[in-house]
Amino acid sequence: MNYGNVSFLLSAYTIGQLPPPDRPDIAFAGRSNVGKSSLINRLVNRTSLVKTSGKPGKTQSLNYFLLDEALYLVDLPGYGFARVSQETRRSWQGLISQYVETRPSLACVVVIIDLRHELKTLDRELIDWLRYHHIHFLPVYTKADKLSRNEQQKNAAVLDAGLTLTPAGRIVFSARTGQGVEELRQRLAAFASTPEEGSSEAPPPPTDPI
Ligand code: GTP
Ligand code: MG
Repeated sequence: MNYGNVSFLLSAYTIGQLPPPDRPDIAFAGRSNVGKSSLINRLVNRTSLVKTSGKPGKTQSLNYFLLDEALYLVDLPGYGFARVSQETRRSWQGLISQYVETRPSLACVVVIIDLRHELKTLDRELIDWLRYHHIHFLPVYTKADKLSRNEQQKNAAVLDAGLTLTPAGRIVFSARTGQGVEELRQRLAAFASTPEEGSSEAPPPPTDPI
């Protein structure tokens, strides 16, 4: 997989605007401001392919990027941001849940969680919901650069316990230092379509211990 071969495709504000499901989707979900867009930039080694911001709520549409002709990377709007109107929040959540429940080519949801903080209800609910719908997911604990190695291990173990995960089922990551990026690249490459085998079925790496 050539992670340098990436381009912006489109922004979708409704399900009708999504591209045809002709390649597997890897979607990136997480609370507002957790670092979804920064993670994607690091993944593809760009500083500003995806717009990032210190202000929560920057990403408001489903933003599609085509990776090496083989995968779509989908930057989802963040959840849990209090300072948007109820109505806006509801329409974002509606769009995301409709997307996750109906997109036939959704291969994996990368769930990005701040390693510095205790588990938030919304993160837990998202993972419960993905499990309920049998959708592959990969938790990534980000902003690891803000912690010492000891604190990283300690906090990761607490999040693992809260989410019923094993260390093999998630990645500790930093968009700033690149910690964990190679592991993430390898995990996501496994979802790429393999046209030479005449199949678009992605081999699902086990992310869920249940
Ligand atoms: P929304 O689109 O608003 O939901 O935000 P987002 O989840 O896409 O977050 P974004 O990538 O815009 O990053 C939010 C802030 O966190 C920015 O100020 C980033 O520089 C910072 N940030 C993101 N990842 C990291 C990281 O790994 N380490 C550190 N130290 N800061 C990070
Ligand atoms: Mg964003």
